[in-house]
Amino acid sequence: MKQIRVDIDNVKAFLGQDAVTNLEHAGADALDKVMNATAEGNDFLGWVELPTETTDAHLDDIIATAEQLRADCDTVVAIGIGGSYLGAKAVIEALSSNFESLRPGVAGDPQVLFAGQNIGEDYLWELQDYLKDKRFGIIVISKSGTTTEPAIAFRLLKEQLERQLGLDEARKRIVAITDEKRGALRSLATEEGYKTFVIADNVGGRFSVLSPVGLLPIAVAGYNVRALIDGAVEMEKATAAASETNEALNYAIARNALYNAGKKIEILVNYNPKLHYFGEWWKQLYGESEGKDHKGIFPAAVDFSTDLHSMGQWIQDGERTIFETVISVEETRYEKVIPTDEANLDGLNYIAGKRIDQVNKMAELGTRLAHIDGGVPNIRISLPALEEKYLGQLIYFFEKACGISGYMLGVNPFNQPGVEAYKKNMFALLEKPGYEEATAAIKQRL
Ligand code: PA5
Repeated sequence: MKQIRVDIDNVKAFLGQDAVTNLEHAGADALDKVMNATAEGNDFLGWVELPTETTDAHLDDIIATAEQLRADCDTVVAIGIGGSYLGAKAVIEALSSNFESLRPGVAGDPQVLFAGQNIGEDYLWELQDYLKDKRFGIIVISKSGTTTEPAIAFRLLKEQLERQLGLDEARKRIVAITDEKRGALRSLATEEGYKTFVIADNVGGRFSVLSPVGLLPIAVAGYNVRALIDGAVEMEKATAAASETNEALNYAIARNALYNAGKKIEILVNYNPKLHYFGEWWKQLYGESEGKDHKGIFPAAVDFSTDLHSMGQWIQDGERTIFETVISVEETRYEKVIPTDEANLDGLNYIAGKRIDQVNKMAELGTRLAHIDGGVPNIRISLPALEEKYLGQLIYFFEKACGISGYMLGVNPFNQPGVEAYKKNMFALLEKPGYEEATAAIKQRL
Protein backbone atom coordinates (compact mmCIF):
# COMPACT_ATOMS: atom_id res chain seq x y z
CA MET A 1 0.00 0.00 0.00
CA LYS A 2 1.44 3.36 -1.01
CA GLN A 3 1.20 5.94 1.71
CA ILE A 4 2.85 9.02 3.09
CA ARG A 5 6.11 8.43 4.95
CA VAL A 6 7.72 10.56 7.63
CA ASP A 7 11.47 10.65 8.16
CA ILE A 8 12.70 12.02 11.49
CA ASP A 9 16.21 10.51 11.33
CA ASN A 10 17.79 13.92 10.96
CA VAL A 11 16.13 15.09 14.18
CA LYS A 12 17.65 12.14 15.99
CA ALA A 13 21.04 12.88 14.46
CA PHE A 14 20.75 16.56 15.38
CA LEU A 15 19.50 16.23 18.97
CA GLY A 16 20.80 12.78 19.80
CA GLN A 17 18.63 9.68 19.94
CA ASP A 18 17.93 10.19 23.67
CA ALA A 19 16.19 13.54 23.17
CA VAL A 20 13.62 11.73 21.07
CA THR A 21 13.47 8.47 23.04
CA ASN A 22 12.97 10.42 26.28
CA LEU A 23 9.70 11.81 24.92
CA GLU A 24 8.25 8.50 23.78
CA HIS A 25 6.38 7.97 27.02
CA ALA A 26 4.92 11.50 26.96
CA GLY A 27 3.95 10.97 23.31
CA ALA A 28 2.16 7.69 24.05
CA ASP A 29 0.41 9.37 26.98
CA ALA A 30 -0.75 12.25 24.75
CA LEU A 31 -1.97 9.80 22.10
CA ASP A 32 -3.93 8.04 24.81
CA LYS A 33 -5.57 11.36 25.76
CA VAL A 34 -6.64 11.81 22.15
CA MET A 35 -7.89 8.26 21.70
CA ASN A 36 -9.62 7.90 25.06
CA ALA A 37 -10.79 11.48 25.56
CA THR A 38 -9.32 11.79 29.03
CA ALA A 39 -8.02 15.37 28.96
CA GLU A 40 -9.23 18.95 28.63
CA GLY A 41 -10.73 19.53 25.18
CA ASN A 42 -12.21 16.02 25.10
CA ASP A 43 -15.54 17.43 23.94
CA PHE A 44 -13.85 18.35 20.62
CA LEU A 45 -12.56 14.96 19.56
CA GLY A 46 -15.24 14.19 16.97
CA TRP A 47 -12.62 14.43 14.21
CA VAL A 48 -10.67 11.42 15.55
CA GLU A 49 -13.07 8.82 14.19
CA LEU A 50 -14.71 11.04 11.61
CA PRO A 51 -13.23 9.17 8.59
CA THR A 52 -14.34 5.69 9.73
CA GLU A 53 -17.70 7.07 10.85
CA THR A 54 -18.41 8.70 7.49
CA THR A 55 -21.17 6.57 6.00
CA ASP A 56 -21.81 5.92 2.33
CA ALA A 57 -25.23 7.52 2.72
CA HIS A 58 -23.63 10.72 4.04
CA LEU A 59 -21.14 10.81 1.17
CA ASP A 60 -23.96 10.08 -1.31
CA ASP A 61 -25.85 13.10 0.03
CA ILE A 62 -22.79 15.37 -0.26
CA ILE A 63 -21.98 14.12 -3.76
CA ALA A 64 -25.59 14.45 -4.96
CA THR A 65 -25.75 18.01 -3.61
CA ALA A 66 -22.46 18.82 -5.30
CA GLU A 67 -23.67 17.32 -8.59
CA GLN A 68 -26.78 19.49 -8.46
CA LEU A 69 -24.72 22.63 -7.90
CA ARG A 70 -22.32 21.57 -10.65
CA ALA A 71 -25.18 21.04 -13.07
CA ASP A 72 -26.93 24.33 -12.26
CA CYS A 73 -24.02 26.75 -11.81
CA ASP A 74 -21.09 28.06 -13.82
CA THR A 75 -19.55 29.44 -10.63
CA VAL A 76 -19.91 28.38 -7.01
CA VAL A 77 -18.76 30.69 -4.23
CA ALA A 78 -17.74 28.97 -1.00
CA ILE A 79 -18.18 31.48 1.83
CA GLY A 80 -16.30 30.87 5.08
CA ILE A 81 -13.19 31.78 7.06
CA GLY A 82 -10.51 29.95 9.06
CA GLY A 83 -11.44 26.33 9.53
CA SER A 84 -14.55 26.91 7.43
CA TYR A 85 -12.40 27.83 4.42
CA LEU A 86 -8.77 26.74 4.45
CA GLY A 87 -9.17 22.96 4.19
CA ALA A 88 -11.31 23.08 1.06
CA LYS A 89 -9.09 25.75 -0.48
CA ALA A 90 -5.97 23.68 0.26
CA VAL A 91 -7.31 20.47 -1.27
CA ILE A 92 -8.83 22.15 -4.33
CA GLU A 93 -5.59 24.01 -5.06
CA ALA A 94 -3.53 20.85 -4.59
CA LEU A 95 -5.66 18.96 -7.11
CA SER A 96 -6.35 21.70 -9.67
CA SER A 97 -4.35 23.05 -12.58
CA ASN A 98 -2.05 25.90 -11.55
CA PHE A 99 -4.04 28.00 -14.00
CA GLU A 100 -7.53 26.97 -12.91
CA SER A 101 -8.40 30.54 -11.99
CA LEU A 102 -8.04 31.55 -15.66
CA ARG A 103 -10.65 29.01 -16.78
CA PRO A 104 -14.16 30.41 -17.06
CA GLY A 105 -16.52 28.04 -15.31
CA VAL A 106 -19.39 26.42 -17.17
CA ALA A 107 -22.51 24.66 -15.94
CA GLY A 108 -21.39 21.05 -15.50
CA ASP A 109 -17.87 22.11 -14.54
CA PRO A 110 -18.13 25.25 -12.44
CA GLN A 111 -15.32 27.38 -11.12
CA VAL A 112 -15.09 27.44 -7.31
CA LEU A 113 -14.34 30.83 -5.80
CA PHE A 114 -14.02 31.84 -2.16
CA ALA A 115 -15.41 34.74 -0.15
CA GLY A 116 -15.94 35.66 3.47
CA GLN A 117 -12.28 34.95 4.26
CA ASN A 118 -11.48 38.66 4.49
CA ILE A 119 -13.21 42.02 4.91
CA GLY A 120 -11.75 43.53 1.76
CA GLU A 121 -14.18 46.02 0.25
CA ASP A 122 -12.39 45.85 -3.10
CA TYR A 123 -12.41 42.04 -2.94
CA LEU A 124 -16.17 41.97 -2.51
CA TRP A 125 -16.81 44.71 -5.06
CA GLU A 126 -14.69 42.92 -7.64
CA LEU A 127 -16.25 39.55 -6.83
CA GLN A 128 -19.75 40.94 -7.25
CA ASP A 129 -18.73 42.61 -10.47
CA TYR A 130 -17.33 39.31 -11.76
CA LEU A 131 -20.54 37.48 -10.78
CA LYS A 132 -22.76 40.03 -12.59
CA ASP A 133 -23.38 37.81 -15.58
CA LYS A 134 -22.80 34.45 -13.88
CA ARG A 135 -25.31 31.78 -12.99
CA PHE A 136 -23.71 31.22 -9.64
CA GLY A 137 -24.43 29.26 -6.50
CA ILE A 138 -23.35 29.67 -2.88
CA ILE A 139 -22.09 27.31 -0.19
CA VAL A 140 -22.13 29.29 3.04
CA ILE A 141 -20.15 27.71 5.86
CA SER A 142 -20.02 28.84 9.47
CA LYS A 143 -20.06 26.54 12.44
CA SER A 144 -21.08 29.26 14.87
CA GLY A 145 -23.29 30.86 12.27
CA THR A 146 -22.35 34.27 13.64
CA THR A 147 -18.89 35.04 12.22
CA THR A 148 -18.78 38.57 10.83
CA GLU A 149 -16.64 38.07 7.70
CA PRO A 150 -18.74 35.31 6.09
CA ALA A 151 -21.98 36.92 7.30
CA ILE A 152 -21.14 40.14 5.41
CA ALA A 153 -20.17 38.26 2.25
CA PHE A 154 -23.31 36.11 2.41
CA ARG A 155 -25.60 39.10 2.88
CA LEU A 156 -24.17 40.71 -0.26
CA LEU A 157 -24.10 37.60 -2.46
CA LYS A 158 -27.50 36.33 -1.35
CA GLU A 159 -29.06 39.64 -2.32
CA GLN A 160 -27.23 39.57 -5.66
CA LEU A 161 -28.25 35.99 -6.41
CA GLU A 162 -31.90 36.70 -5.59
CA ARG A 163 -31.80 39.79 -7.80
CA GLN A 164 -30.17 37.97 -10.70
CA LEU A 165 -32.12 34.70 -10.59
CA GLY A 166 -35.23 35.34 -8.54
CA LEU A 167 -36.00 34.16 -5.03
CA ASP A 168 -37.00 30.57 -5.83
CA GLU A 169 -34.07 29.83 -8.11
CA ALA A 170 -31.67 31.45 -5.63
CA ARG A 171 -32.92 29.26 -2.79
CA LYS A 172 -32.14 26.13 -4.83
CA ARG A 173 -28.56 27.26 -5.34
CA ILE A 174 -27.70 28.04 -1.74
CA VAL A 175 -26.41 25.36 0.61
CA ALA A 176 -25.67 26.19 4.25
CA ILE A 177 -23.26 24.24 6.46
CA THR A 178 -23.63 25.15 10.11
CA ASP A 179 -24.50 24.02 13.61
CA GLU A 180 -27.51 21.73 13.96
CA LYS A 181 -29.52 24.16 16.06
CA ARG A 182 -27.65 27.32 17.06
CA GLY A 183 -26.64 30.52 15.30
CA ALA A 184 -28.03 33.10 12.92
CA LEU A 185 -27.13 31.03 9.85
CA ARG A 186 -29.17 28.07 11.10
CA SER A 187 -32.24 30.30 11.66
CA LEU A 188 -31.80 31.96 8.28
CA ALA A 189 -31.39 28.60 6.49
CA THR A 190 -34.50 27.23 8.18
CA GLU A 191 -36.48 30.37 7.34
CA GLU A 192 -35.41 30.29 3.67
CA GLY A 193 -35.61 26.50 3.29
CA TYR A 194 -32.02 25.97 2.14
CA LYS A 195 -30.43 22.58 1.82
CA THR A 196 -28.18 22.23 4.89
CA PHE A 197 -25.43 20.06 6.30
CA VAL A 198 -24.52 19.94 9.97
CA ILE A 199 -21.11 20.56 11.51
CA ALA A 200 -21.04 18.30 14.54
CA ASP A 201 -20.66 19.99 17.93
CA ASN A 202 -17.55 17.96 18.71
CA VAL A 203 -15.63 18.86 15.53
CA GLY A 204 -13.79 22.19 15.76
CA GLY A 205 -13.41 24.39 12.68
CA ARG A 206 -9.76 23.66 11.95
CA PHE A 207 -10.41 19.91 12.27
CA SER A 208 -13.45 19.98 9.97
CA VAL A 209 -12.08 19.56 6.44
CA LEU A 210 -13.15 15.91 6.32
CA SER A 211 -16.74 16.89 7.21
CA PRO A 212 -19.17 18.58 4.77
CA VAL A 213 -17.24 21.82 5.45
CA GLY A 214 -14.43 20.61 3.21
CA LEU A 215 -16.08 17.76 1.34
CA LEU A 216 -18.88 19.73 -0.32
CA PRO A 217 -16.73 22.44 -1.95
CA ILE A 218 -14.14 19.80 -2.92
CA ALA A 219 -16.86 17.67 -4.56
CA VAL A 220 -18.26 20.74 -6.32
CA ALA A 221 -14.79 21.36 -7.73
CA GLY A 222 -15.05 17.88 -9.28
CA TYR A 223 -12.80 15.88 -6.97
CA ASN A 224 -13.25 12.45 -5.50
CA VAL A 225 -14.23 12.87 -1.87
CA ARG A 226 -14.62 9.11 -1.39
CA ALA A 227 -10.93 8.64 -2.16
CA LEU A 228 -10.09 11.52 0.18
CA ILE A 229 -11.99 9.82 3.00
CA ASP A 230 -10.48 6.40 2.10
CA GLY A 231 -7.02 7.89 2.54
CA ALA A 232 -8.01 9.43 5.86
CA VAL A 233 -9.46 6.08 7.02
CA GLU A 234 -6.13 4.41 6.27
CA MET A 235 -4.30 7.02 8.32
CA GLU A 236 -6.86 6.87 11.13
CA LYS A 237 -6.16 3.15 11.46
CA ALA A 238 -2.39 3.56 11.11
CA THR A 239 -2.21 6.16 13.88
CA ALA A 240 -4.61 4.66 16.43
CA ALA A 241 -2.05 2.93 18.65
CA ALA A 242 1.37 3.82 19.98
CA SER A 243 4.00 2.08 17.89
CA GLU A 244 7.19 2.81 16.01
CA THR A 245 5.21 2.96 12.78
CA ASN A 246 2.73 5.55 14.05
CA GLU A 247 3.90 8.48 11.88
CA ALA A 248 1.70 11.04 13.63
CA LEU A 249 3.17 10.06 16.98
CA ASN A 250 6.73 10.17 15.60
CA TYR A 251 6.19 13.62 14.11
CA ALA A 252 4.62 14.96 17.33
CA ILE A 253 7.51 13.60 19.39
CA ALA A 254 10.14 14.98 17.00
CA ARG A 255 8.71 18.52 16.94
CA ASN A 256 8.34 18.61 20.74
CA ALA A 257 11.93 17.42 21.13
CA LEU A 258 13.01 20.23 18.82
CA TYR A 259 10.90 22.78 20.70
CA ASN A 260 12.43 21.69 24.00
CA ALA A 261 15.85 22.22 22.41
CA GLY A 262 15.02 25.85 21.55
CA LYS A 263 13.71 25.39 18.01
CA LYS A 264 10.67 27.64 18.40
CA ILE A 265 9.75 28.06 14.74
CA GLU A 266 8.68 25.30 12.35
CA ILE A 267 8.77 26.09 8.66
CA LEU A 268 6.59 23.88 6.50
CA VAL A 269 8.28 23.66 3.13
CA ASN A 270 6.85 22.52 -0.18
CA TYR A 271 8.48 22.18 -3.59
CA ASN A 272 5.20 22.27 -5.48
CA PRO A 273 3.24 25.53 -5.88
CA LYS A 274 -0.01 23.58 -5.64
CA LEU A 275 0.72 23.05 -1.95
CA HIS A 276 0.82 26.74 -1.04
CA TYR A 277 -2.62 26.66 0.58
CA PHE A 278 -1.85 23.38 2.27
CA GLY A 279 0.73 25.41 4.18
CA GLU A 280 -1.95 27.97 5.05
CA TRP A 281 -4.27 25.23 6.32
CA TRP A 282 -1.44 23.67 8.33
CA LYS A 283 -0.49 27.04 9.86
CA GLN A 284 -4.02 27.52 11.14
CA LEU A 285 -4.23 23.95 12.45
CA TYR A 286 -1.03 24.19 14.45
CA GLY A 287 -1.12 27.90 15.27
CA GLU A 288 -4.63 27.89 16.74
CA SER A 289 -4.12 24.56 18.45
CA GLU A 290 -0.76 25.14 20.11
CA GLY A 291 -0.24 28.88 20.44
CA LYS A 292 -1.62 29.47 23.92
CA ASP A 293 -0.60 29.93 27.54
CA HIS A 294 2.43 31.78 26.11
CA LYS A 295 3.70 28.55 24.58
CA GLY A 296 3.81 26.88 21.19
CA ILE A 297 5.93 26.45 18.08
CA PHE A 298 5.36 29.32 15.64
CA PRO A 299 4.16 27.76 12.37
CA ALA A 300 5.50 29.35 9.20
CA ALA A 301 5.38 28.13 5.61
CA VAL A 302 7.38 28.69 2.44
CA ASP A 303 7.13 27.63 -1.20
CA PHE A 304 10.48 26.45 -2.57
CA SER A 305 12.33 26.98 -4.76
CA THR A 306 10.47 30.33 -5.14
CA ASP A 307 11.14 31.41 -1.56
CA LEU A 308 14.74 30.22 -1.58
CA HIS A 309 15.23 33.49 -3.43
CA SER A 310 13.61 35.48 -0.63
CA MET A 311 13.75 33.53 2.63
CA GLY A 312 16.68 31.27 1.77
CA GLN A 313 19.30 33.55 3.31
CA TRP A 314 17.44 33.79 6.64
CA ILE A 315 16.86 30.06 6.82
CA GLN A 316 20.47 29.24 5.97
CA ASP A 317 22.09 31.82 8.18
CA GLY A 318 19.66 33.65 10.46
CA GLU A 319 18.90 33.02 14.13
CA ARG A 320 19.11 29.26 14.82
CA THR A 321 15.65 28.86 16.32
CA ILE A 322 14.06 27.11 13.35
CA PHE A 323 13.49 23.66 11.97
CA GLU A 324 11.99 22.58 8.67
CA THR A 325 9.31 20.07 7.79
CA VAL A 326 9.48 19.36 4.09
CA ILE A 327 6.57 17.91 2.13
CA SER A 328 8.03 16.18 -0.89
CA VAL A 329 5.74 14.92 -3.65
CA GLU A 330 7.24 11.81 -5.28
CA GLU A 331 5.40 11.78 -8.63
CA THR A 332 4.31 14.70 -10.79
CA ARG A 333 1.12 14.49 -12.83
CA TYR A 334 2.83 15.31 -16.14
CA GLU A 335 6.29 14.84 -17.63
CA LYS A 336 8.37 17.61 -19.14
CA VAL A 337 11.93 17.14 -20.33
CA ILE A 338 14.45 19.96 -20.74
CA PRO A 339 15.31 20.16 -24.46
CA THR A 340 18.78 20.22 -25.98
CA ASP A 341 19.78 23.47 -27.67
CA GLU A 342 22.71 23.23 -30.06
CA ALA A 343 23.86 26.79 -29.44
CA ASN A 344 23.66 26.27 -25.66
CA LEU A 345 23.94 30.00 -25.10
CA ASP A 346 22.21 29.64 -21.75
CA GLY A 347 24.65 26.90 -20.72
CA LEU A 348 21.84 24.53 -19.79
CA ASN A 349 22.79 21.56 -21.94
CA TYR A 350 24.27 19.81 -18.90
CA ILE A 351 20.71 19.15 -17.75
CA ALA A 352 19.19 18.63 -21.22
CA GLY A 353 17.22 15.39 -21.34
CA LYS A 354 16.44 15.51 -17.63
CA ARG A 355 12.91 15.96 -16.38
CA ILE A 356 12.06 19.23 -14.65
CA ASP A 357 11.16 17.20 -11.58
CA GLN A 358 14.66 15.70 -11.44
CA VAL A 359 16.03 19.22 -11.20
CA ASN A 360 13.42 20.08 -8.56
CA LYS A 361 14.37 17.01 -6.53
CA MET A 362 18.04 18.00 -6.68
CA ALA A 363 17.09 21.49 -5.53
CA GLU A 364 15.29 19.82 -2.63
CA LEU A 365 18.16 17.51 -1.72
CA GLY A 366 20.78 20.23 -2.11
CA THR A 367 18.76 22.61 0.06
CA ARG A 368 18.13 19.98 2.69
CA LEU A 369 21.83 19.24 3.02
CA ALA A 370 22.75 22.93 3.01
CA HIS A 371 20.19 23.75 5.69
CA ILE A 372 21.26 20.79 7.83
CA ASP A 373 24.85 22.04 7.50
CA GLY A 374 23.56 25.46 8.54
CA GLY A 375 22.05 24.07 11.76
CA VAL A 376 18.45 23.63 10.63
CA PRO A 377 17.08 20.22 11.60
CA ASN A 378 14.85 18.62 9.02
CA ILE A 379 11.77 16.42 9.05
CA ARG A 380 10.76 15.00 5.67
CA ILE A 381 7.28 13.88 4.71
CA SER A 382 6.99 12.16 1.37
CA LEU A 383 3.70 12.04 -0.44
CA PRO A 384 3.35 9.56 -3.35
CA ALA A 385 1.41 12.06 -5.52
CA LEU A 386 -1.02 14.94 -5.35
CA GLU A 387 -4.08 12.71 -5.41
CA GLU A 388 -7.17 12.63 -3.23
CA LYS A 389 -6.21 9.49 -1.32
CA TYR A 390 -2.78 10.77 -0.29
CA LEU A 391 -4.13 14.19 0.60
CA GLY A 392 -6.69 12.44 2.82
CA GLN A 393 -3.82 10.60 4.50
CA LEU A 394 -1.82 13.80 4.91
CA ILE A 395 -4.74 15.77 6.37
CA TYR A 396 -5.54 13.14 8.94
CA PHE A 397 -1.86 12.64 9.72
CA PHE A 398 -1.43 16.34 10.53
CA GLU A 399 -4.67 16.47 12.55
CA LYS A 400 -3.72 13.47 14.67
CA ALA A 401 -0.17 14.72 15.18
CA CYS A 402 -1.55 18.12 16.17
CA GLY A 403 -3.77 16.65 18.89
CA ILE A 404 -0.88 14.57 20.26
CA SER A 405 1.61 17.42 20.00
CA GLY A 406 -0.67 19.92 21.75
CA TYR A 407 -1.22 17.59 24.68
CA MET A 408 2.53 16.94 24.86
CA LEU A 409 3.06 20.68 25.03
CA GLY A 410 0.62 20.88 27.93
CA VAL A 411 -2.13 22.93 26.29
CA ASN A 412 -5.71 22.21 25.29
CA PRO A 413 -5.28 21.87 21.50
CA PHE A 414 -8.98 22.22 20.78
CA ASN A 415 -9.93 25.69 22.02
CA GLN A 416 -8.98 29.12 20.67
CA PRO A 417 -9.66 31.69 23.40
CA GLY A 418 -7.17 34.14 21.88
CA VAL A 419 -9.26 34.57 18.73
CA GLU A 420 -11.97 36.38 20.69
CA ALA A 421 -9.87 39.41 21.72
CA TYR A 422 -9.91 41.14 18.32
CA LYS A 423 -13.60 40.39 17.84
CA LYS A 424 -14.49 42.01 21.15
CA ASN A 425 -12.62 45.18 20.19
CA MET A 426 -14.03 45.21 16.66
CA PHE A 427 -17.61 44.85 17.91
CA ALA A 428 -17.01 47.55 20.52
CA LEU A 429 -15.64 49.89 17.85
CA LEU A 430 -18.57 49.11 15.54
CA GLU A 431 -20.98 49.72 18.43
CA LYS A 432 -22.64 46.33 18.14
CA PRO A 433 -25.71 46.06 20.40
CA GLY A 434 -24.71 44.37 23.65
CA TYR A 435 -21.21 45.86 23.59
CA GLU A 436 -22.10 49.26 25.09
CA GLU A 437 -19.72 48.97 28.04
CA ALA A 438 -16.87 47.73 25.87
CA THR A 439 -17.58 50.57 23.42
CA ALA A 440 -17.31 53.17 26.17
CA ALA A 441 -14.11 51.59 27.52
CA ILE A 442 -12.41 51.35 24.14
CA LYS A 443 -13.30 54.92 23.23
CA GLN A 444 -11.39 56.03 26.35
CA ARG A 445 -8.27 54.49 24.84
CA LEU A 446 -8.49 56.30 21.51
O1 PA5 B 1 -10.78 26.68 13.85
C1 PA5 B 1 -11.65 27.44 14.22
O2 PA5 B 1 -12.48 27.14 15.09
C2 PA5 B 1 -11.80 28.80 13.57
O3 PA5 B 1 -10.78 29.06 12.69
C3 PA5 B 1 -13.12 28.89 12.84
O4 PA5 B 1 -13.15 27.89 11.86
C4 PA5 B 1 -13.32 30.26 12.21
O5 PA5 B 1 -13.21 31.26 13.17
C5 PA5 B 1 -14.68 30.34 11.54
O6 PA5 B 1 -15.68 30.09 12.47
P1 PA5 B 1 -17.15 29.74 12.02
O7 PA5 B 1 -17.12 28.47 11.24
O8 PA5 B 1 -17.90 29.59 13.31
O9 PA5 B 1 -17.65 30.87 11.18
